[in-house]
Amino acid sequence: MLRKIFVQEMQSKAKLDAFYSLRKNEVQKSVRDVLGKDGIPIDVGLLAFSTVINMITSMFWGGAIQRNKGAGTNAEFRAAVSELLVILGKPNISDFIPSLARFDLQGIERNVKKASKRIEQIFDSVIYQRMKKNEEKSQGTKKTDSNDFLDFLLEFRDQDTGKSLSRAQMKAFLADIVIGGTGTTSTAFGWTMAELMLHPETMNKVQEELIEVVGANKIVEEYHIYKLPYLHAVVKEALRLHPPAPLLLPRSPTQSCTVGGYTIPKGAKVFMNAWAMHRDPQFWKIPWSFSLRDLLVIMLITWIT
Ligand code: HEM
Repeated sequence: MLRKIFVQEMQSKAKLDAFYSLRKNEVQKSVRDVLGKDGIPIDVGLLAFSTVINMITSMFWGGAIQRNKGAGTNAEFRAAVSELLVILGKPNISDFIPSLARFDLQGIERNVKKASKRIEQIFDSVIYQRMKKNEEKSQGTKKTDSNDFLDFLLEFRDQDTGKSLSRAQMKAFLADIVIGGTGTTSTAFGWTMAELMLHPETMNKVQEELIEVVGANKIVEEYHIYKLPYLHAVVKEALRLHPPAPLLLPRSPTQSCTVGGYTIPKGAKVFMNAWAMHRDPQFWKIPWSFSLRDLLVIMLITWIT
C-alpha cells in the first residue's frame, strides 16, 4: 500500500508537474548561492543535499517548519537527517555476522535510534500542527490553502479496506522518502562533479552541450534533460562507478529458494553487490575508470533502434 502511494501519489507525472515550481525554486536558490561564491570553495555534496531536502520538505508539508515545542527548524531537520545518513552509511558488522548483532559492537544501532528519535519528534510536531490547522479550518476559524503530501496522507483511505494510515506508518513513510531521496542524490551529484573536474575534456563537452541546448547563463529546466544525451551519459557513468547504494537495499526471501544454484534460506538477509556488477569486465571495456565509451555506444544503438 505504501509503495502504491509513493508511486501513484508522489511520483506520478501529474504530481511531479504540480510540484515543478517548488523544485525549480530550490534549484534557482542554490544556483544563486553558488553565483555569490565566486572564487570560494563549495561543498557540492552539501549544496545538493540542502537543495534536495528542501525540495522534498516543500512537497511534504510546504517547506518551513513552524517553530513550536519540539518542532525544531528546517536546519535542525536537515542536521538530524544528515547525521542519520552518516551512521547508516557505515558498514555494520552486525549485518554480516548476525550472531554479533545483539552486542551492537560499533554502537550503530544505538546511534541510529538516537538520531531517528529526533527526526520522529520533528515529524510528530509537524503532523500535530497540521492536524490542528485542519481542525480549525473545518470549524471555519481559519483558512488554509495547503494541498501537499502531508494533507494527502492525513486524509488517505485505502479504497479496498477503507483503512487510513496510522501515525507510525505515516512517519516511517516520510522518513523512508527523506532518507532514500537525499543521501543518494547528493552523493551522486558529488561524484559526478568530482569526475567532471578530473576529466576537463568531458566537462568542456558537457558545457558545450548545455550552451547549445539551454543557452549561456540560462537555468536548466527539467524538460531539457531529454535533449542533453551527453550530460545524461556522464551522470550514468558516474552512477556506474560510484553507486550511492553499492549493496542496494537488503532483501529477505519469505520462502527458501534457489537462485543460480545457491540455496537462500527463508529469512536470510541478502545483499546485492551492484558495485561489483558495475565493474564486471565481462560487460565493461574499461571497468575501473570513468569512460563514456561504453555508454555512448549504448546510447547510439538505442537511438538507431
Ligand atoms: C541518485 C539517486 C537515487 C539512487 C541511486 C537511489 C537508489 C535506490 C535503490 C538502490 C533502491 C533499492 C531498490 C531495490 O533494491 O529494490 C531505492 C529504493 C527507494 N528509493 Fe531511491 N534512489 C535515488 C533517489 C531517490 C529519491 C529522489 C527518492 C524520493 C524522493 C527515493 C526514494 C526511494 C524509495 C521510497 C525506495 C523504496 C522503494 C520500494 O521499496 O518500493 N530514491 N533507491
